[in-house]
Amino acid sequence: MPPKPLMCSTENLSKDLTGKVCIVTGSTSGIGLEVARQLAKQGATVVKACRNLDAGQALAREIAAETGAPVTAMRLDLGSLQSVRDFANEFEGTHTRLDALINNAGVMNTPEGLTVDGFETQFGVNFLGPFLLTKLLIPLLGASAPSRIINTSSVYHERGDIDFNDLQWEERPYNGFQAYHDSKLAVVMSARRMGQDLADTGVTSVSVHPGWAQSNLVKNTLPLWVQNYALYPVLKLMGMITPWECAQTTLHCVLDEDVPRHNGAYFSQCSTLYKVKADKPGGWPLEPRNPAVSDDEMGARLHDVATKLVGL
Ligand SMILES: NC(=O)c1ccc[n+]([C@@H]2O[C@H](COP(=O)([O-])OP(=O)(O)OC[C@H]3O[C@@H](n4cnc5c(N)ncnc54)[C@H](OP(=O)(O)O)[C@@H]3O)[C@@H](O)[C@H]2O)c1
Repeated sequence: MPPKPLMCSTENLSKDLTGKVCIVTGSTSGIGLEVARQLAKQGATVVKACRNLDAGQALAREIAAETGAPVTAMRLDLGSLQSVRDFANEFEGTHTRLDALINNAGVMNTPEGLTVDGFETQFGVNFLGPFLLTKLLIPLLGASAPSRIINTSSVYHERGDIDFNDLQWEERPYNGFQAYHDSKLAVVMSARRMGQDLADTGVTSVSVHPGWAQSNLVKNTLPLWVQNYALYPVLKLMGMITPWECAQTTLHCVLDEDVPRHNGAYFSQCSTLYKVKADKPGGWPLEPRNPAVSDDEMGARLHDVATKLVGL
């Protein structure tokens, strides 16, 4: 059997979050749904930022009824910069504070395609959309400090290699997995860069590898019935865990008091000590960061390029 995933502490999972406002993007399924549900259980005001508003609203009503917390849904399509701007405007018009922005939504191995604004789908949805959302909400996060930005990456960022000369895959034959890896590397690099920029503001920016979840993310790679039924026992033995288990590192980053000491860091296994196997005997996987993450020059370049692409 694979080792058990490391869990967020009971102390953190029982903190009272009444009055705290959290946005969870992509919370209609998988990891984001579990994060939203747990934060509501702890009393937080949760705004589910969802591409499918009907599904988001139905789930918001369900979680509100189950937990008694104020849970609502608002429309957000990260593949449209206008939708990101509309969401940020609507949120600022209806809320006076923001304690945690959880950039969780993502897509993997999508067929070759472009967002509304003409960006390669995964670079646009996984990186540029959340980048713009975060930038637009930083003033409110700053005014609500201490506050946190949790950016969902993946261990696969390790295989990323950002080609600044061909960010939209116009010159190379498209490779859906490589585009995913690159987008997730951009997320880790950008979270680190924002952490540097936000030092001493009381706003903490981190990135997270949640673990390998049984979720809809795989839908462009494998029919869901193959993951959920045909191959389920094998995948489980290989280390696939539940969305709830994969929500733990994100929840740790929202809730643990030690996290602000690691502004810009990449978390896995509820910790930044993922590199030291002896310190973390359980869980999956323990991979080091991509060396590009520590490259300040590349981080600055990515930040500048993204800022221009999203029209800031
Ligand atoms: N599952 C894993 O093993 C794994 C491993 C490492 C990292 N991650 C990361 O964890 C995050 C959550 O994934 P998951 O496993 O929970 O997958 P999931 O169940 O497919 O959830 C993804 C969420 O993102 C939303 N989304 C997709 N495109 C969007 C868009 N354009 N605008 C707004 N929302 C959009 C989806 O909404 P719709 O319902 O509208 O599609 C859904 O709510 C992702 O960032 C993923 O890359 C997952």
